Amino acid sequence: MAMPIETGRLLLRDFVQEDWRAVHEYGSDSEVVRYMPWGPNTVEDTKDFIRRVITYQQEFPRRRFEIGIVLKEESKLIGGCGIRENDAALREGNMGYVLNRAYWGRGIATEAARALVKFGFETMNLHRIFATCSPENKASERVLQKCGMSLEGRLRQNMQIRGKWRDSLLYAILSHEWNG
Ligand SMILES: CC(C)(COP(=O)(O)OP(=O)(O)OC[C@H]1O[C@@H](n2cnc3c(N)ncnc32)[C@H](O)[C@@H]1OP(=O)(O)O)[C@@H](O)C(=O)NCCC(=O)NCCS
Repeated sequence: MAMPIETGRLLLRDFVQEDWRAVHEYGSDSEVVRYMPWGPNTVEDTKDFIRRVITYQQEFPRRRFEIGIVLKEESKLIGGCGIRENDAALREGNMGYVLNRAYWGRGIATEAARALVKFGFETMNLHRIFATCSPENKASERVLQKCGMSLEGRLRQNMQIRGKWRDSLLYAILSHEWNG
């Protein structure tokens, strides 16, 4: 399948085991994982994550893409993102992203998220792509809006983040709403 995905500044590519240090830079940062159900990672957590997502690369047909975000100008892995088909009959997928804190505020997540939406519709042939974010995670909510998603509702206490129940905002886009 069409991997890696290239955008203006980024290369979205499969993880390799040696990426663990770069993943650990953001995966062990408590500020980065604040709204995530996982982390902050131990080294073992990060290595387990990489091992697990490498197994997805062997699936055929492949329906789970957990991929690294590489900033081309620095040849550095600065984050991760993913898109997975969660219901094959409905052709529904969901996506997410995370970035090293040193690279926030430069439109990088938006660039990656838009590329994932394009990949989901054009390559995975999805009908609907959704994403959720914490209502307090304003930057993430903005990224979802900027990739053309609409707010569908608020899921109440559907997440547990380090022992606390948390609500999520549900955002989605349908294939006919996506203008390429
Ligand atoms: C969420 C995250 C991926 C955003 O990455 P980013 O590359 O900084 O995002 P972008 O620069 O593409 O866009 C961020 C948008 O949010 C806005 N924003 C940032 N902080 C904000 C805040 N506190 N309140 C309101 N808007 C905010 C920015 O202004 C920008 O919008 P604009 O282009 O309209 O000005 C990054 O902060 C991150 O990795 N967070 C931790 C992991 C995470 O929460 N992932 C999402 C889980 S749902």
